[in-house]
Amino acid sequence: MSKLSLDRILQSQGFGTRKYCRSLIEEGDVAVDGTVHSSYKTVFDTSNLTLTVFDEEWLVRERVYIALYKPANFECSRKPSHHPGVLTLLPEQFTWRDVQPVGRLDHDTTGLLLMSDDGPFIHAQSSPKRHVPKVYQATTAEPVTDALIEQLLAGVQLHDEPAPLKAISCVQRGEYQIEIVLEQGKYHQVKRMLAAAGNHCGGLHRSAIGGVVLESLRLSEGEWCFLGNQSLALLA
Ligand code: URA
Repeated sequence: MSKLSLDRILQSQGFGTRKYCRSLIEEGDVAVDGTVHSSYKTVFDTSNLTLTVFDEEWLVRERVYIALYKPANFECSRKPSHHPGVLTLLPEQFTWRDVQPVGRLDHDTTGLLLMSDDGPFIHAQSSPKRHVPKVYQATTAEPVTDALIEQLLAGVQLHDEPAPLKAISCVQRGEYQIEIVLEQGKYHQVKRMLAAAGNHCGGLHRSAIGGVVLESLRLSEGEWCFLGNQSLALLA
């Protein structure tokens, strides 16, 4: 972290333009570690700094790493067209900070979505060279058979892929339910693999990415939390 003037700190945390941040400070709406400062030029060391803006506390963070329990009917795209974007589920500051989803879930897929404003982190996590397992709970339209599981484990050929894609694990969880673990993150991969194996996906939920397990984060649909270093290490 570094030493920055209060207006720059506020702007870096996504509170708006520099001009707007200065006006908040001058109007006495900003406290630093509990003390109101009305000069935007005052310099602070940003490590472990807590801002209070309009009575709400914000720990200053250089970068944010977020886990969102994505509900259905939200789009991950930057310019959502048919449903609201996932960013509408987060405080407005995160849009200003250019927080983005790490990879995508389809609008009808629920579950764990990572989000961040750390470009290199997003890039590294989204790289095809990265083999972080992603765990999905899929509901099928037709009953699950041993043959379906065997096919998904052996690999299925998708139209635009040079080689068959395999699940690294696939187990039956119910008559119409499988848990499938993938290392890649191809477009509509679970749905297309199920279709290629002669079934159809009727519902999809991502329950974990690497060692980050949605259930253990204790979020309800639409809720989010910050991920700390311990959780981030589980994505390595
Ligand atoms: N596979 C899919 O088909 N959809 C998702 O949203 C994620 C993985």
